[in-house]
Amino acid sequence: MKTIQLNNGIVIPTPGLGTYRLGRNDREVIHAVRNALDAGYRHIDTASFYDNEYPIGKAIAESRVPREELFVTTKLWGTDILKNGIEQAFEESMLKLDIGYIDLYLVHWPVTGQVAATWRKMEQIYESGRVRAIGVSNHLTHHLEELLSVAAVVPAVNQVELHPYLVMQGLQDYCREKDIVVESWSPLGSSKIPLLADPLLLEIGQRHSRSTAQVILRWNLQKGLLPLPKSSDAKRQKENIALFDFSLSGEEISLIDRLDKGERTGVHPDEIEF
Ligand code: A2P
Repeated sequence: MKTIQLNNGIVIPTPGLGTYRLGRNDREVIHAVRNALDAGYRHIDTASFYDNEYPIGKAIAESRVPREELFVTTKLWGTDILKNGIEQAFEESMLKLDIGYIDLYLVHWPVTGQVAATWRKMEQIYESGRVRAIGVSNHLTHHLEELLSVAAVVPAVNQVELHPYLVMQGLQDYCREKDIVVESWSPLGSSKIPLLADPLLLEIGQRHSRSTAQVILRWNLQKGLLPLPKSSDAKRQKENIALFDFSLSGEEISLIDRLDKGERTGVHPDEIEF
């Protein structure tokens, strides 16, 4: 597993395992995470909203992979910002995961009117030493500008929906300029976005004797993005990290960039409601 250095000096393994709807129950989540850890994944991405922090913590404990080899991200949900309290939500995630500390804590979605105040609370949690880095998710450039206008700590990461049909090059460039690593959620598209059947991606895959998924994930790595493919299948989990023995040409990267059509599988960050 390769790593990327975050803006506070800590390193994060890439790719990571996405875990939204990883299993239908705790047993399936534990099974999928154990398989991933056995396959070599060292970065697990969850969120309080996914309701799987408890089984993920269990899988980690059962795996006996040393804690310091692992990188675990979880996220703060919008209703916790508006109603239940940020500190309390963080404590709950800590309890459910039960892994001693959280590597990366993210604001899951920008909450209108709360971006700056939320970030100040995140900075307090960071200063308390219970997380190794803090960042955001689903923040567009204007959300980041609002946040950075009050920030003492620059977010280490911005995790957004990103794939060849939603490239968001402007946001990528802005984040690079601010030293914020961009993570891609749903990097392989979804049933709504049939990316894996795209003819250009299939053709590039054939050229390299790789799957379409591997082409997309390799495109992420070569663009400096950190992809978070989700798979509960042991074979596909292995496929999604077998990315380090081939590379795409500059021309192939540009061709993939040009597939962009601003198509989303999830909600637009300006339209999320809590
Ligand atoms: P599976 O878990 O059965 O492998 P998401 O949009 O939440 O990230 O979901 C990714 C989807 O892509 C899941 O349905 C997952 O199904 C599927 N998937 C993951 N890796 C691969 C792969 N290498 N090839 C084909 N499908 C994949």
